Amino acid sequence: MRLIIAWCSCLVFFFLLPARHIASGAVHNITTSEPLFQNQTLVSSGQIFELGFFTPNGSENQYVGIWYKNLTPSKTVWVANRDSPLTSADRSAKLAIGSDGNLKLVDGQQNIVWSTNVSVQSNNTAAMLSDGGKFVLQERNSTEVWASFDDPTDTILPNMKIGLNKRTGERRVLVSWKNDNDPSSGNFATGITSETPPQLFSWNGSTPYWRSGPWDKSTFIGVPEMESSYYNGYSLQHDPQQGTAYFSADSDNNSFLAYGFISPEGVLALMLWYYGSNGWSKNWAAPSTGCDIYGTCGPFGICNSKNSPICRCVKGFMPQSKEEWNRRNWTRGCIRETELNCQKNTSRSPSTQMKKDVFVHTKQMKVPDSAAYLSDPGDVGKCQSWCMNNCSCLAYSYVQTIGCLVWAKDLMDFQEFSTAGQDVYIRIAHDNTGMSTEAKLIISISTILGIMFVGTAIFGLWKWRASKRDITDKRGEMSFGNAWKDQLKQNDASQFKLFSFSSLILATNNFDATNKLGQGGFGPVYKGMLNDGKEIAVKRLSSSSGQGMDEFKNEIILISKLQHRNLVRLMGCCVEGEEKILVYEYLSNKSLDSFLFDSKRKAELNWDARFHIIQGIASGLLYLHRDSYLRVIHRDLKASNILLDEKMNPRISDFGLARIFEGTQVLLNTHKVVGTIGYMSPEYVMGGIFSEKSDVYGFGVLLLEIVAGKKNTSLYYRGQHFNLLSYAWQLWSEDRGPDLRDEAIVNTCPPSEAMRCIQVGLLCVQDQMTDRPNMLSVVRMLSGESDLHQPRPPTFTFQRGNPSHNNEAQGESIFSVNTMTNSVVEGR
Ligand SMILES: *[C@@H]1O[C@H](CO)[C@@H](O)[C@H](O)[C@H]1NC(C)=O
Ligand SMILES: *[C@@H]1O[C@H](CO)[C@@H](O)[C@H](O)[C@H]1NC(C)=O
Ligand SMILES: *[C@@H]1O[C@H](CO)[C@@H](O)[C@H](O)[C@H]1NC(C)=O
Ligand SMILES: *[C@@H]1O[C@H](CO)[C@@H](O)[C@H](O)[C@H]1NC(C)=O
Ligand SMILES: *[C@@H]1O[C@H](CO)[C@@H](O)[C@H](O)[C@H]1NC(C)=O
Ligand SMILES: *[C@@H]1O[C@H](CO)[C@@H](O)[C@H](O)[C@H]1NC(C)=O
Ligand SMILES: *[C@@H]1O[C@H](CO)[C@@H](O)[C@H](O)[C@H]1NC(C)=O
Ligand SMILES: *[C@@H]1O[C@H](CO)[C@@H](O)[C@H](O)[C@H]1NC(C)=O
Ligand SMILES: *[C@@H]1O[C@H](CO)[C@@H](O)[C@H](O)[C@H]1NC(C)=O
Ligand SMILES: *[C@@H]1O[C@H](CO)[C@@H](O)[C@H](O)[C@H]1NC(C)=O
Ligand SMILES: *[C@@H]1O[C@H](CO)[C@@H](O)[C@H](O)[C@H]1NC(C)=O
Repeated sequence: MRLIIAWCSCLVFFFLLPARHIASGAVHNITTSEPLFQNQTLVSSGQIFELGFFTPNGSENQYVGIWYKNLTPSKTVWVANRDSPLTSADRSAKLAIGSDGNLKLVDGQQNIVWSTNVSVQSNNTAAMLSDGGKFVLQERNSTEVWASFDDPTDTILPNMKIGLNKRTGERRVLVSWKNDNDPSSGNFATGITSETPPQLFSWNGSTPYWRSGPWDKSTFIGVPEMESSYYNGYSLQHDPQQGTAYFSADSDNNSFLAYGFISPEGVLALMLWYYGSNGWSKNWAAPSTGCDIYGTCGPFGICNSKNSPICRCVKGFMPQSKEEWNRRNWTRGCIRETELNCQKNTSRSPSTQMKKDVFVHTKQMKVPDSAAYLSDPGDVGKCQSWCMNNCSCLAYSYVQTIGCLVWAKDLMDFQEFSTAGQDVYIRIAHDNTGMSTEAKLIISISTILGIMFVGTAIFGLWKWRASKRDITDKRGEMSFGNAWKDQLKQNDASQFKLFSFSSLILATNNFDATNKLGQGGFGPVYKGMLNDGKEIAVKRLSSSSGQGMDEFKNEIILISKLQHRNLVRLMGCCVEGEEKILVYEYLSNKSLDSFLFDSKRKAELNWDARFHIIQGIASGLLYLHRDSYLRVIHRDLKASNILLDEKMNPRISDFGLARIFEGTQVLLNTHKVVGTIGYMSPEYVMGGIFSEKSDVYGFGVLLLEIVAGKKNTSLYYRGQHFNLLSYAWQLWSEDRGPDLRDEAIVNTCPPSEAMRCIQVGLLCVQDQMTDRPNMLSVVRMLSGESDLHQPRPPTFTFQRGNPSHNNEAQGESIFSVNTMTNSVVEGR
């Protein structure tokens, strides 16, 4: 559901429709004697911005606005009369300076539709447009009396401020358009909050929709990308005494134009236009994951978009409604498992008074909403003891650049990142923690040892029978039922092993961060080394797959039987308590994306190597779909799930996991999204429909990425295209397919082969499932055994800019692509 929102927001960018402008003459200033008529525009001196009358595509209304001159697609950055439009039929409206010196928009009947309405000393004023996009009304001596920057629409430009002044009651917010063709005030607004420290906040009506987290004096804590951004001119002036807080996003970087805006769908985005490129690229957007949407996991829930499911409760808390939680409706959040000791009525049993509450430590967090800033405590220790000594303090965090933050309300909108973020400590009752994790570990190891010792006699016999097998763990097996044992025996040939948790702790140095290979959709992966020196990859599944132990084990057994040279081999697993761990063979060359999308390493993959990889992936998928006795749909095919062995053979990883995680779910309930944006088929994103053809779609995207050496979701393309699919389609349809080739392979990849691969890729990403080939056909097409038919344009992401912005006749050119034929494209 959430992902669909994000998807749709991308569509907005693709379908930005140019508006109809009717002007023919340009003027430089509006003065008392020279009003602006509809046949004119006001142009900034450097020809960057233009102000005039416009009518959005399909609209009956006419507005006065400011847009980028000479850019296609342009962007309307300000609208004067958004909520009081003129009719598009009105041909005699004008923007003039009235007798009181104010700017007035006057319609054909001489009614004032909009006015600057400020007090001006003289009527001798003039209005002009600067190259920064600021429209100002000045007195003759150049005193500015009014500026469009004081009254934002949905866009923030460099040197413009949004924020508030509590004394004057001024509140400068961005308010979205209703839709792409209607500038009137929409549902979404973005502004700065008045708390200390302030946050950037988006609302849907009056409902919180997204928050940035507090400003830490250089970035917002909840926007980790900000730190690494080229766009580094963010500032937030906060004066608690004056009650003012103003945010601006300036930039002294002359290599691009920039604007930020809130889309009609509520997505706040920063768009850049690099000089020399010819399109806007999205530098940053929020919300961009389900976790970014305010309160997804409810009170005391922690959201991590890399986990599945994304929500979990803070340690010591449990879902308020287990049933809703399992249905993945997390909005009611979590409640305490045990009442806080400090809140207990201690008069009856004084002993409980002795037990203090403790703090759970969470790392790399977007701190929750509604923080209170404590000015006194100067260090972490004081912050902690203040919180400990005040029973209403539910959590604290000490942020170096801010100081001590404490929470007295339910922790809302709490998110975990994989980089950046802050440490947050949450108060829970002592009983909850039981003991420290070290103590737990020692106990669990000693338990294992104890059971091993007691069980030696029992195992002796069994071990003798199973002597051919190298089973690392004894305890694990005892807990498995007979059915499991039988299956295991049948599985002997595959050498599937059960690992003990303790052996994996040893192998991975207690899941040390330095051994972490990556973070997959279902949990982190660590490199490990077994006693015999064999290297392994250990995937620690995020908890709560929703399956029982036995179901899980049976599923793993089934998956372990899938064996193909293009699949990563599952060597074994470990199931102990909460832990569910899969052990795979270790592949030295890491994943395909680490080559393909790395400017240096991509050259290591010449075309032959890439084609070999494409064929390998296709054949692995074909095996999963058809040739294995289990029909497996991968569901999360992407470059980072393709591992490469030392000979650069591709091996598909993470297959079959979707089965486990869907396991007990009712089939119809596919709200849970397994997948990655950019690789998911339209029918899945829109309707949750899943089939082999969705994998075919993912394969098509992957294939195009391998040819182009670029990510589908990457927005930095030279053209006005915002994703790889539409770019590939355009090139291919114009017979320029080979231009898609990665520079690194131009010399090794014959144009004809590139064309064939691109065509196969395009066929795989057809909107309609039925138009996509199955993997068998794909394998045949790739090897040249069967002919290719013509793909249709991928509607979903197809977009094409307006070739001549100022020309009304040719004007708006967003194609209804379903009906478009190739000849239309070529005949441009
Ligand atoms: C417009 O106004 C500015 C500022 O008053 C002035 O410098 C400039 O010469 C004017 N331009 C025209 C064309 O009148
Ligand atoms: C623009 O329109 C105004 C009034 O509608 C008219 O007086 C003027 O001559 C027009 N100018 C041009 C260049 O068409
Ligand atoms: C400006 O104001 C003066 C008197 O204050 C008035 O005589 C004059 O007509 C006004 N000019 C315009 C263009 O309204
Ligand atoms: C102009 O501002 C005054 C007070 O500042 C307000 O009473 C009046 O309604 C405003 N007029 C318009 C047309 O907005
Ligand atoms: C410009 O003139 C206005 C009155 O017309 C006055 O209030 C203001 O101080 C003047 N500004 C400058 C810079 O002279
Ligand atoms: C915004 O709120 C409206 C009305 O409450 C709701 O219908 C709509 O789905 C919300 N939009 C998003 C993107 O949450
Ligand atoms: C401007 O941005 C580009 C990348 O977009 C970056 O390489 C360059 O260093 C930046 N320049 C400055 C002065 O920040
Ligand atoms: C989720 O649970 C809340 C509270 O029980 C309920 O109001 C809401 O309708 C549920 N949402 C969905 C999608 O079921
Ligand atoms: C605490 O216990 C006393 C006596 O047992 C009782 O009168 C009081 O209401 C209790 N307070 C709370 C908050 O439960
Ligand atoms: C305890 O914390 C609450 C909430 O932060 C605050 O209102 C209250 O004044 C604090 N009490 C003391 C004694 O500091
Ligand atoms: C205006 O938009 C509609 C869809 O919103 C589209 O069908 C139509 O072709 C567009 N008009 C022009 C002139 O491009």
